Amino acid sequence: MNFNEVIAHYHEELLAVEKELLNIFQGTPTLLPTIGYHIINSGGKRLRPLFLLLSADLCGSKSDNKIHLAAIIEAIHTASLLHDDVIDRADTRRGKPSANSKWGNQIVILVGDYLYSNALRLAVLQKNQKIMETLSFATTKMTEAEILQLEKTADPDISIEDYYKIISGKTAVLISSACKIGAIIANQSPQVEDRLMDFGKNTGIAFQLVDDVLDYSANPKTLGKKLGKDLEEGKITMPLISLLKNSPSEVSSEVRDIVKNYANIKDKKATMERIRTFFSEYKSIDESMAVALDFINQAKECINIFEPSITKQRLIALAEYSLKRQK
Ligand code: IPE
Ligand code: IPE
Ligand code: MG
Ligand code: MG
Repeated sequence: MNFNEVIAHYHEELLAVEKELLNIFQGTPTLLPTIGYHIINSGGKRLRPLFLLLSADLCGSKSDNKIHLAAIIEAIHTASLLHDDVIDRADTRRGKPSANSKWGNQIVILVGDYLYSNALRLAVLQKNQKIMETLSFATTKMTEAEILQLEKTADPDISIEDYYKIISGKTAVLISSACKIGAIIANQSPQVEDRLMDFGKNTGIAFQLVDDVLDYSANPKTLGKKLGKDLEEGKITMPLISLLKNSPSEVSSEVRDIVKNYANIKDKKATMERIRTFFSEYKSIDESMAVALDFINQAKECINIFEPSITKQRLIALAEYSLKRQK
């Protein structure tokens, strides 16, 4: 089983999610649908809707709300990307100019706010307290993590605990919520909800670890984002944490200086090359990927309560795709 087979199987449902997603952008100011179409039509892997749909199917859900909830989850993700690109001063997203670079920060912040609130408003209409708790917990944690990340900007002493707190909050919580909601709408026990929640959390942590590796090593065309943004924005992620831990003091003190003074460095290209050379010398990318693999293995453990099935194979293939992905 591979990712493309999973996508093919969910083709119809994903089209329905797409339609619902566009509806969430409908509002009176014409800029709402305009920016909505721009970001939605730029692509996006739609992984979070898939996690929700697959978890619901694994739990034998008969709910007709799953498409709607999958669209709500993707809308929250989209809102977080709109805000993230403002914060990270990113000018490219999904291979296109980012919304902030086209329309400016002010409007994009407001469109993100609108999306967050409209997604939660639509979720409230479901009148399901557990779903509301899950989604409002996710959005709170996501913002908290973004703030912690800013607080740790260019800090080479960031602890591994804080790094995990950041990636768990900004990325894993939403994937985890998508999986948990799949169990909730299938009326599963709290134990099953927790298993799927933990599956999503471990997968989400691996997903962000790989994102942090791709920021240094991907093909930018395939990735659809500019490389090197993390160092540029002072984000100390796993490859750098691993390098600082495993290199001799003359290397680590050079890297610490680079991290702290990156804004003032003239030849950024040469500096990036130097960092990449250190990465290969001290196996920083290898270690980061090995850690991501550990999290995927833990994720698989979390769903060992489910009997083998084709749906379970698909869910595992989706989790494994987080490791293999090039975009
Ligand atoms: C990007 O998420 C933001 C992160 C959490 C790393 P995705 O890689 O899922 O982005 P799209 O939706 O496919 O563009
Ligand atoms: C993930 O962090 C941000 C969100 C969860 C919105 P990044 O800043 O690494 O995401 P990309 O690389 O810009 O997609
Ligand atoms: Mg970013
Ligand atoms: Mg990134």
